[in-house]
Parts: sequence; C-alpha cells; structure tokens
Amino acid sequence: MRESLRMAPMYVAMIGAPVLMFLAMLSYLFYPIAAKLALIPLITIGLLVFGIMGAREVYLGPKHRAAGADVWHLGIKTEYETVHQGEHNQVTLNVKRFNTATGKMEVHPYMITATRFTTVLEALIAIKEKKDNTLSMRYSCRMGICGSCGMVINGKPSLACEANIFKSLNGNEIEVAPMEGHPILKDLVDDFDDFFSKHQSIHPYLYRDNAKEQYSAKKEYKQSRDEINKFLPYSYCIMCGLCNDACPVVNTNPDFIGPQALSQVYRYNSDSRDQHGDTRINLVDTLEGLWSCEFAGACSKVCPKGVDPATAIQLLKNDAIKK
Ligand code: SF4
Ligand code: FES
Repeated sequence: MRESLRMAPMYVAMIGAPVLMFLAMLSYLFYPIAAKLALIPLITIGLLVFGIMGAREVYLGPKHRAAGADVWHLGIKTEYETVHQGEHNQVTLNVKRFNTATGKMEVHPYMITATRFTTVLEALIAIKEKKDNTLSMRYSCRMGICGSCGMVINGKPSLACEANIFKSLNGNEIEVAPMEGHPILKDLVDDFDDFFSKHQSIHPYLYRDNAKEQYSAKKEYKQSRDEINKFLPYSYCIMCGLCNDACPVVNTNPDFIGPQALSQVYRYNSDSRDQHGDTRINLVDTLEGLWSCEFAGACSKVCPKGVDPATAIQLLKNDAIKK
C-alpha cells in the first residue's frame, strides 16, 4: 500500500500527461482556436508533473538508499536496491565438510562479515585466510569461466563465485556443501577424474574423414549463421559438473555417462564441420548412455551457462533411432 501511494504521482506523470496531450492534439485538429488556448495550460501541467517527479527523485532517492528502503525508479525495482543496504552484515556459513579421516560429513559454522557484493566464494576464501586454514575448496578464475568452484549452496548445485551472499541467504545463514554427484576428495573438493574421462570418451573434437585435409587445410570451413546457431549454445559448457550433480540418474547410477558428456556429443554432432557423428552416436546409443536419461530436466535448470543438456539428449535419442 505504502509503495503504491509513493508511486501514485508517477502514474499520473506517466499516464495522465500523455493522455492530456493527446486530447489537446485532437482538439487542435477539430477546434483550432480553442485548442490553441487549451494547449498552453495542458503542456504546462504535463511539464510540471514530470518536473516534480524528477525533483522528488533527486531529493529523496539518496535518502531512501541511505535508509535501506526499497526505491523505485519509473516503477522498476532495481537489483542494486533490493539487496541488503547495510555496509557490513554478519552472516553464518554452515559449511558441510568431508572429513577424509572418518569418511563422514561434518558441519562447521563460520561467522563472517559480508557486504552486499560478497560472493559465497569470497566468504569461503575469507574463512580460509582468517579463521580456518584447513578448509579446502577449489577455485581459479572467480568469474564463472573456469568451472572449478561448483558446490551445493542451500541445496542447489551452483558456482560459488557467482552466488551472491545475500541472494543465497536462508534467514541469516547459508549452507554450503560439496557436490555429492561426484566422489569427494576433501571438504568441498570433488574428484573429477571420472567426469573428465567420460567427457573424453565421446571424442569431443572436430573430426574430418580426410585427415590430410583437416591438418593441412587450404582454406577455412565456412559456416552460415544458422549452422553456427545449431551448436553454439552447447559450446558454452565450462565443465563445472553441476548438471551431473543435479541429475538424479547420475546420483543413483554412477555408470551413466551423464548430461555433460551427452550435451557435448550433440555439440560436435550438430557442427557442420564435423564428420564423426555416427561414431559418437554409436558410442552413446547404450543403456549407460542415452537411454539412461529419464528427462528429469534438473541438468538444464542448474547450468550456469544456459547449456540445455536435457534437450540435447532428447535430440540425440531421435538421431539414434533414425540411424
Ligand atoms: S552443461 Fe552446464 S552445468 Fe553441465 S558441465 Fe557444462 S556448464 Fe556445467
Ligand atoms: S572460480 Fe572459476 S567458475 Fe568459479
């Protein structure tokens, strides 16, 4: 209610003033003399309303921001303004750590100070640097490119470097755990050997029948925009393993090749430069390959790069049936 009252003058400015102007234009067409008289006050009113709104925003905007209130600009609540406004906030990270000595998980709570820009990865690094240097996690780029910092944050497989502390908050606490869809080495660190060998097994590279042509090409392989669009979304995979962790089939059957490797079969098979599609289809046209997928769709939901393994797998099933 308070918010709509605050926005009422803005609605008047945005809807009322143009309507008045439009009426004035109509009257100008049909009653030129009356319109000339009417136009001046109407335009004045319109400009006044816009002027008052602008001045109000200039005056009140910084005050609202300083007070931590939600501020609306032309009816749009910006992301910047909806996160916590306090300079520093105390947050508890409940870190589920795999203890290699006991083979069991242990929850360690750590209290940290965060600003509105702090990511979960930065919080973990702060814990390691200032509170507990025995904590292990894997990371590299800190910007969602290398795919190293995958972990489970509040129950969802996520990249820690892309997870903002306050957006991940559950009350005043965050749960951070290792991905359990991969074997765990220590604390938050997973063993990706099996994941990478599955990726490698599908021949993830372009292949031409004529090796001479491929390795001593005389000219480039040209592609149309449509040909590029076919494989491009699938080439954004950063091999973070979140899709495999989210997949209920991977979690119950470790022999399943998994959504990441299958999405890459589709990536290379749909590339017009490649001539190795039949071999790849034969590799995954098995019970532990394509046909284990139950189309749960969790893989596509968690992918931080917008790759859609679930769709890729269904398209590959279609190709396997047709071959
Ligand atoms: S498909 Fe997405 S979630 Fe799966 S490994 Fe690639 S980037 Fe990560
Ligand atoms: S640290 Fe590279 S993706 Fe997170």
